[in-house]
Amino acid sequence: MLNHPKILVAVGTRPEIIKTAPIIRALQSCSIPFSFLHCGQHYDHNMSQRFIEELNLPAPQFNHKITTSQPAQQTVQIFAKTAKTIRQTQPQILLTEGDTNTTLATALAANKQKISIGHIEAGLRSFDLRMPEEHNRRIVDHLSNFLFTPTARSAQNLTRENVWGKICITGNTIIDAVTQHLPIAQEKSSITRTIQFEEYALVTAHRQENVDNPQVLKNLVEAFIESPLPIIYPIHPRTQKALKKTNLWKKLSTSKNVQILPPIGYFDFLVLMKNSRLIITDSGGIQEEATAPQIRKPVLVTRLSTERPEAVEAGFAKVVGTEKVTILNEINNVLNAKPTLPETSPYGNGDAAEKIVHIIEQAINSSPLAPQTNPLPP
Ligand code: UD1
Ligand code: UDP
Repeated sequence: MLNHPKILVAVGTRPEIIKTAPIIRALQSCSIPFSFLHCGQHYDHNMSQRFIEELNLPAPQFNHKITTSQPAQQTVQIFAKTAKTIRQTQPQILLTEGDTNTTLATALAANKQKISIGHIEAGLRSFDLRMPEEHNRRIVDHLSNFLFTPTARSAQNLTRENVWGKICITGNTIIDAVTQHLPIAQEKSSITRTIQFEEYALVTAHRQENVDNPQVLKNLVEAFIESPLPIIYPIHPRTQKALKKTNLWKKLSTSKNVQILPPIGYFDFLVLMKNSRLIITDSGGIQEEATAPQIRKPVLVTRLSTERPEAVEAGFAKVVGTEKVTILNEINNVLNAKPTLPETSPYGNGDAAEKIVHIIEQAINSSPLAPQTNPLPP
């Protein structure tokens, strides 16, 4: 069928929309038809639709409604609904990004229907099995036909594990996203007018192993309240729910040292990162964004592990754990040391999406894509 979209692009969470936006733009600029699916894992307007509109993406042809956040049921629902979308659209390849339950469920749905899979941001490893993301990304990497890795190191992780698919080192599309959106953000965002502090640390926290653990959540909140640098804190819905179950919400929201915000749009977030003195986060994507030449900020990673060791080795990030005293010491260290940071990012120079789309275009044009059919070990 002429112009029948051979590519199904799937997203389901906030970071997937942001990191897939450059892919969609590259497909559009090469006039490659594609179908676009939002799986509905994130569903609040300010965690989903807001980003599709702000980043000027086409409206998804398929918007799934997921009725639960219980991880197994959520994954099952996304799997079943994506399987139906695949039956309707008959793509040759599914493109899926990252390590969320959406990534896992969409990849499984494609695999069960013998559709090729392109995994964007393949090969990351935290070696921290407490994290659902570590399980998701490992499974998806072993199902995928194309593994688009951000760095040589993530490619090595995959080689070591003998994955079957083709490994392509492309850079991370988050650098493309920062490059494409920061100039627009600086023009359009007015968030700085609402910020109460001249100098601040930008904070986020949402990791399940952090915010669902009451002791860790308390440590983080106390560190933010006592921080020597005031805190700007857009709060993820998971964390808001966890905070409201305890008296920590009141403590945090009445602190003069912390300005709480709801989850904010990408343009506002980019501007806040750019103007911050320091970033404190357990986010994956933010560790990468901080290395973009246009941002270049030190990051304290409030976790016990990271799947982004390149940011640590380049000097941008430090894994500081989740103890209050350590976090406070590390904030003081950054304030006193005024670190000098590299001019380039370990995650590429902003052309990852172009490279990924080029590889997919060639593969689609050269032969009908099929799942691996002869998976004998090497
Ligand atoms: C998910 C991903 C995580 C990713 C994060 C990005 C998994 C296992 N985790 O975590 O890797 O870093 O997205 O932000 O896939 N909620 C809302 N409104 C929303 C979205 C979520 O209220 O729009 C609430 C849910 O009801 C639930 C909680 O937040 O109670 C967690 O949502 P969920 O999508 O399961 O996981 P995240 O913590 O967002
Ligand atoms: N982000 C945003 N608004 C916010 C918080 C984060 O636009 O209030 C962006 C941020 O710039 C990054 C992405 O969301 O691109 C990171 O998402 P998150 O931390 O939720 O997920 P992770 O990257 O850890 O999977």
